[in-house]
Amino acid sequence: MLRRRTRWLSIFLTCALACTTSAVMAQKAVDVSVTIRANEPGPTINPNIYGQFAEHLGAGIYEGVWVGEDSNIPNTNGYRNDVIAALRDLKVPLVRWPGGCFADEYHWREGIGPREKRPVKVNTHWGGVPETNAFGTHEFMAFAEMIGAKVYISGNVGSGTLQEMADWLEYLTSDTVSTLANLRRENGREKPWEVHFFGIGNETWGCGGNMRPEYYADLFRQYATYIKTPPGHRPKIVASGGNDEGTRWVEVLTTMVERDMNAISHHYYTTPTGVWAKKGNSTGFGEDQWISTFANTMRIEEFIKNNVAILDKNDPKGKIGFYVDEWGTWYDPEPGREPGFLYQQNTLRDALVAAINLNIFHHHARRVHMTNIAQMVNVLQAMILTDGPRMALTPTYHVFHMYRPFQGATFLPTDVKAPQYSHGNVSVPAISVSAARDTEGRIQLALANLDPNREAVVKTNLQGASAKSASGRLLTAKQMDARNTVDAPESVKPTSLTAKRSGDAIVITLPPKSVAVVQLQ
Ligand code: AHR
Repeated sequence: MLRRRTRWLSIFLTCALACTTSAVMAQKAVDVSVTIRANEPGPTINPNIYGQFAEHLGAGIYEGVWVGEDSNIPNTNGYRNDVIAALRDLKVPLVRWPGGCFADEYHWREGIGPREKRPVKVNTHWGGVPETNAFGTHEFMAFAEMIGAKVYISGNVGSGTLQEMADWLEYLTSDTVSTLANLRRENGREKPWEVHFFGIGNETWGCGGNMRPEYYADLFRQYATYIKTPPGHRPKIVASGGNDEGTRWVEVLTTMVERDMNAISHHYYTTPTGVWAKKGNSTGFGEDQWISTFANTMRIEEFIKNNVAILDKNDPKGKIGFYVDEWGTWYDPEPGREPGFLYQQNTLRDALVAAINLNIFHHHARRVHMTNIAQMVNVLQAMILTDGPRMALTPTYHVFHMYRPFQGATFLPTDVKAPQYSHGNVSVPAISVSAARDTEGRIQLALANLDPNREAVVKTNLQGASAKSASGRLLTAKQMDARNTVDAPESVKPTSLTAKRSGDAIVITLPPKSVAVVQLQ
């Protein structure tokens, strides 16, 4: 009996000691100092850095955006009301459509005219499901108008023709009495549309035709010659570029193409493991994959720097933009779902990935004039997940919402002193930071605390400006894989955050694993 009691006492003491130790460890804060150099304004953060990508893939368009007029899901002219309202509130500046790999199999003529007469095809890239073509050019352009976004259309180089691409632009933009312009009118659109950006192919190194950059460079020159739009209405023309650590596409394109190329696209997807065949799960992961996801996502900065160095050498006047027109997390398929639909859960980890990437893009705003997160609804790192008539806003949505003041703001450089956050043999900076002066003249500071165990106390100083206080919004949760579902849509949502003043500094306390956007005034 005595032995049993002693054993219980020893378990109790061990636990008490361990719990106290872990509580103390959990409370030991990381000290950070941030100086915002408000007197050294940098480039404008192009609002299109907040662009989104919507492909005919899984439930991205059908179900996610378009349900048709006869659906029981509340809709306006076929577009679901809940999703449209959420996207409007997000101030999405730009949508890229119809793909992705889908773009190089898309034939625009199949998506115009009476819907019941449109051909049904097979979406060979994504799940082999029927593509009804119910969502076509008119539906996309109306969708963009409904959410107040500009349009970025990707043309078909892989399996289309130059004539088909030229005709699409004529159909979209011509104000003449040409047969194609009149066909557009017959189909219900009198006025020509404005096409803001046009991509000549997608991933032409892979699903867009398995080309070599030299071959594509010649094709680009040829295709761009025949893109004819009314004077003053020419879209910015985007060349299909490389991916990941690659720089050859930028090197070849900037050497072989002398005109018409307004930007080169680049793609980078983040996986927790860095191994494409076994990427890692979207939920239920440990701290090892929490930190490795961040280490992997941060690689985008090196990829941008290396490509921008080539652009600076070959395009010193800075005419060509570097567009990261696909980025985000990509996990292993959800058990029980069609793998080709790329549906995945979205957690607090994705929120931090979004904040880290947006901060990096702000730092490279001089050349990075557009990025498109993949993708908008129900696919990869989505803003919104739908389930029948219901939807949940993801943690990534909330980060994009919190970052809205950065659209069109002026980048401000920062000096950051912060320790590394380490786990196992991986280390990353504990804090990700960016600052800007928004279009109303207020200083905005975005912070992410990557450490899931320790809060960060951020002493913020301003150089060339002053502020007495700071307040804003904070996103955090207890679990690394906390997420919103249609049954619990508010598990992860922003709360308000107020900072204290201490001497000359403003002190912002960030809980472990959190994202904050504060306004200094
Ligand atoms: O976003 C999913 C796919 O990823 C796109 O279709 C393609 O461009 C990329 O490989």
